[in-house]
Amino acid sequence: MIVKAFEFELKDGRRALVRSPEYADIPGVLDYLYKTSGETEFLLRYPEECVKYTPESEKELFDQINAAPNDAMLLCLVDGKVAGNCRITWSSKIKTRHRASIGIALLRDYWNQGIGTRLLTELIRIAEENEGILQMELDFIEGNSRARALYEKMGFRITGMIPNAIRLKNGTLLNEYHMIREIKR
Ligand SMILES: CC(C)(COP(=O)(O)OP(=O)(O)OC[C@H]1O[C@@H](n2cnc3c(N)ncnc32)[C@H](O)[C@@H]1OP(=O)(O)O)[C@@H](O)C(=O)NCCC(=O)NCCS
Repeated sequence: MIVKAFEFELKDGRRALVRSPEYADIPGVLDYLYKTSGETEFLLRYPEECVKYTPESEKELFDQINAAPNDAMLLCLVDGKVAGNCRITWSSKIKTRHRASIGIALLRDYWNQGIGTRLLTELIRIAEENEGILQMELDFIEGNSRARALYEKMGFRITGMIPNAIRLKNGTLLNEYHMIREIKR
């Protein structure tokens, strides 16, 4: 779906624009995917695994997300540059369409500016507006205290854990936690 664009102020006073992705964003998004993969261990990819993301694959993805009634990507731009994005998607299958999955990642330069809080607020609003959705779900990797703090602030609670779900290149094994936030109806 296409989301209604909006602006807000970061903690440092800069203005951010949030809107659905457009073709002109593709170079910025490819750069963002590559950089974020190397800036944190808390995403599911390493930079070299980003070769599968191409201008063509992003164009196809944007088209698919923007046209789908059960999918939305919110791109955050600061001074015209891609700062990060988030996504909410839910199944069309009868048994699971009440569960919306979300994901979010920002470039390190933009952490702790309130973007995560604002984007999650919007994802919650989208979930609330879609009557079939009864809960929002997400996963985070052990040690990601910033993400966990943000999610708990926004009403998510831990409901499960997969031991050793993540294995870093150096062999370190990390647990993955599942969180849920109910949508009141
Ligand atoms: C996790 C992430 C999305 C959070 O977005 P953000 O814009 O930095 O978050 P916000 O600034 O809105 O809020 C972060 C909150 O965590 C708090 N916080 C910051 N660092 C923290 C830490 N190390 N431990 C606990 N809380 C922390 C902040 O004080 C803030 O709370 P407040 O608004 O009550 O003051 C962002 O940092 C990010 O993209 N990180 C890398 C990728 C990632 O981990 N994605 C999530 C995968 S599950």
